[in-house]
Amino acid sequence: MRPLSLLAARRSPVWLRPRWGSRWCRRSRGCSPAGRQLLSTPIFYANGSPHIGHLYSALLGDALHRHRELHGRGGRFATGTDEHGLKIQTAAAAAGSLPQHFCDRVSVEFQELFAQAGISYTDFIRTTETRHRRAVEHFWITLQDRGWLYRAKYEGWYCTAEETFLAASQVTECPDSQGGRHMVSLESGHQVHWASEENYMFKLSEFQEPLLRLLKERRLTITPEPFYQQVLPWLKQDLPDLSVSRERNRLQWGIPVPGDASQTIYVWVDALVNYLTVVGYPDTHHDWWPAACHIVGKDILKFHAVYWPAFLMAAGLDPPEQIFVHSHWTADGQKMSKSLGNVVDPRACFQRYTVDGFRYFLLKQGVPERDCDYYDEKVIKLVNSELADVLGGLLNRCTASSLNPSGTYPCFSKACFPKDMGAQNGRGLGKASTEDYKLVSSVKELPLRVSSDFEHFRIYKALESILECARQTNGFVQRHKPWKLSRNDPAQQEWLDTILHVTFECLRVYGLLLQPVIPASADKLLTRLGVGPSERSLRDLTFLSHYHEEQCPFEGRSLGCDTGVLFPKLEKPPSRSHGGL
Ligand code: ME8
Ligand code: MG
Repeated sequence: MRPLSLLAARRSPVWLRPRWGSRWCRRSRGCSPAGRQLLSTPIFYANGSPHIGHLYSALLGDALHRHRELHGRGGRFATGTDEHGLKIQTAAAAAGSLPQHFCDRVSVEFQELFAQAGISYTDFIRTTETRHRRAVEHFWITLQDRGWLYRAKYEGWYCTAEETFLAASQVTECPDSQGGRHMVSLESGHQVHWASEENYMFKLSEFQEPLLRLLKERRLTITPEPFYQQVLPWLKQDLPDLSVSRERNRLQWGIPVPGDASQTIYVWVDALVNYLTVVGYPDTHHDWWPAACHIVGKDILKFHAVYWPAFLMAAGLDPPEQIFVHSHWTADGQKMSKSLGNVVDPRACFQRYTVDGFRYFLLKQGVPERDCDYYDEKVIKLVNSELADVLGGLLNRCTASSLNPSGTYPCFSKACFPKDMGAQNGRGLGKASTEDYKLVSSVKELPLRVSSDFEHFRIYKALESILECARQTNGFVQRHKPWKLSRNDPAQQEWLDTILHVTFECLRVYGLLLQPVIPASADKLLTRLGVGPSERSLRDLTFLSHYHEEQCPFEGRSLGCDTGVLFPKLEKPPSRSHGGL
């Protein structure tokens, strides 16, 4: 008979054993500086130029990171390039390059695009860096030492495009262009190849219950909800062990298995560990981990929601806290692909629509729950109607020298716009209507609503709310027609200034809230309104202080001197080309 203690140890899963589990959980959970998170994008395969899908993931991260920074709780924001694996090895060979040279070139393309797009990452990781190799080796040895790896013959289908192993039920036969037949992945349509080799296997099957519990107890949250619902059935079906290495003679471009040079570590183990590498694994990661939030496309949800938490638990680490999932961009109704020639080049889009115009388009039009279609006319229509007309128009109207000849932040009159609606008209000055009070209350609530939408990965909704308020503000100006009021009549002047003041205050709030999405334009807007760099935080955002019986620091201040248009109207493109890659 086995000694009792051994039996007990076998029954209680290794990741729950108190020796280290509870201590680490207590120490690390929420233990990052002031509750901040590591926010990450996927690391992108360095096998080709970046397109708008990659940019979209990076923009979501950037906007969220900037938003958190403005609230004084910006953590780290990591992105990078995934440079190992068969996919890269093949692409480099096809280009006649050494894999390292090939990756250097593509990684720089990503870095340049992100610099142009204003992606405010704090960490850029390349999986060919030495610090990453050290982290992966340490992670592998940990898995091995804890008994989660074994050698076995692996037989099955491998999809190089997705760098993934597929079960027989996930592939189908398909005719090819030469009249022959080949096997393809049912989900992606990519060709698969039969792999039959001796590999290291990871005991994924043993994690079925712990993973299910983890998700059901929402210790790892997956947002939006439909993606959470998508993961659960994966964990209820059979969860076979996972091959985590390839024979070196088939895959040379990768990190060798420590102590076994005949095998290369599977690229997804390598890639996922990047999130630990950026926080200093295996030395200083406890300062951050597991306070992590991964932004991923729906195509790689299984790797992040199933494999990654299992690997981490096996290595004695906590799973990340959050996964934010988004859907895909299509182009003119079709999946973007190099062979169709419809891959949208973000650099051409920046040139055509300006950086902020295109950032705004992707973040406003992109809805994480569903695929979104890209076409040029849609960008032009959105940017012109929302940024140029609504926002730019509002700024133009209230700063026009005909209305505001002194070029200062106008003063608010409580007599014209009393806090208590019933008290107005006391001096015959009050003109504020019920709709005006509604506007004030909508804008007052806006910052909270916007923050909540950002933190629930609904940036498009936050933008919808800002735009809705901006439209209401235009309605307010339209309703009261300040251009019909005379500055020679003191009573009219007081009301005129009050209308302008309310409009300025609304615009100031929109400018502040839009900083994470259109940073350069928001800066231009705020500078024009005379709002200084130290007055742009979202943490202590005020609105209409004077109305709320407090001092307003802006009244009487000189406006910024740049009177240029906030957003130039975009012209229709001459032809429907995307500047494809
Ligand atoms: O999968 N629409 O890299 P990848 C929106 N290296 N987003 C898109 C998109 C589209 N059409 N196409 C790609 C990999 N993306 C791995 C990741 S992470 C440890 C390793 C975005 O270059 C989306 O975020 O194929 C998707 O998940 C990611 O790019 C995949 O990029
Ligand atoms: Mg991909």
